[in-house]
Amino acid sequence: EKIYVGVDIGGTAIKVGICNQSGELLHTYEGPTETSKGTDAIINNIAAYSRHIVDESPFAWEQVEGVGIGIAGFLDIPNGIVAFSGNLSLRNVPLKSILEEKLGKTVKINNDANVAALGEAWAGAGKGVGHCVMYTLGTGVGGGIIIDGKIVEGYASKAGELGHIQIVPDLEAIQCGCGKMGCLETVSSATGIIRMANDAVARGDRTTLSLVDNIMAKDVVDAAKAGDEVAIRIVNRAAYYLGKSLSVVSVILNPQRFIIGGGVSKAGEYLFEQIREAFVKLTPDPSQEGVEIVPATLGNNAGIVGAAGLIIRG
Ligand code: BGC
Ligand code: NA
Ligand code: ZN
Repeated sequence: EKIYVGVDIGGTAIKVGICNQSGELLHTYEGPTETSKGTDAIINNIAAYSRHIVDESPFAWEQVEGVGIGIAGFLDIPNGIVAFSGNLSLRNVPLKSILEEKLGKTVKINNDANVAALGEAWAGAGKGVGHCVMYTLGTGVGGGIIIDGKIVEGYASKAGELGHIQIVPDLEAIQCGCGKMGCLETVSSATGIIRMANDAVARGDRTTLSLVDNIMAKDVVDAAKAGDEVAIRIVNRAAYYLGKSLSVVSVILNPQRFIIGGGVSKAGEYLFEQIREAFVKLTPDPSQEGVEIVPATLGNNAGIVGAAGLIIRG
């Protein structure tokens, strides 16, 4: 039996999975990314965890058909190069060739949110939907566009970088990790939500968040759900700009379904209602008001399943 390894590289953890030919997840493993130790450490970890998961499984390394990788950042996909990853501090890393050498297997790389979208389209919230667009709300805001069941990569494989749609008006814009101003990621990522909360506390706004040390995005959502006005304003803002970007994307692509995943999406219906409200208010085409805006269903596994899918589905 052939097996396929999928790797999902995030800012804090590298998740690895073994899938069979039909994309069924048979085994998972997770280890730290160790971003602060630099490029070589990250690459060594990817290779070590990929071997480790097969070692601890009932399968043999000889059965591995290939290793698919989802990684955050602007990539040169055909050449397997990570051109720039702000959240992982990587620049011009020929990841595919380094890993093929280390592992002795075919390696394919693609953007983390693109592979999550592929995973959801294949086996999750986008099953049976040819045209869907996924957003991942985590450290950054990722995007993945699926048309006719395939990832849209664009001319130089940078398509679907939805987190860098410059959506916040100039006067309110702050700088993004990409260097530019007003990106969606600055307001709708976990990082953005935490920053807005810390700013509010520092300004002396009256909020229960001032009692929390080391505020996380979940604290802000919980405070909003409990009626804290400052937290409500922050979550509204994150949802509003996300909904606004959905209206931008929908006039360009007219997808059937938007899938929202990543840690922040766990805020649940509370967040989705506001995203839908902003979308319906802003979309200029009433026929799009019925566009489905749904949570991801594969949770943490979308990335590894989609990454394995890069190999399985060619
Ligand atoms: C990066 C994307 C990535 C997203 C989520 C963004 O900052 O530019 O490539 O998909 O974060 O990790
Ligand atoms: Na993407
Ligand atoms: Zn940006």
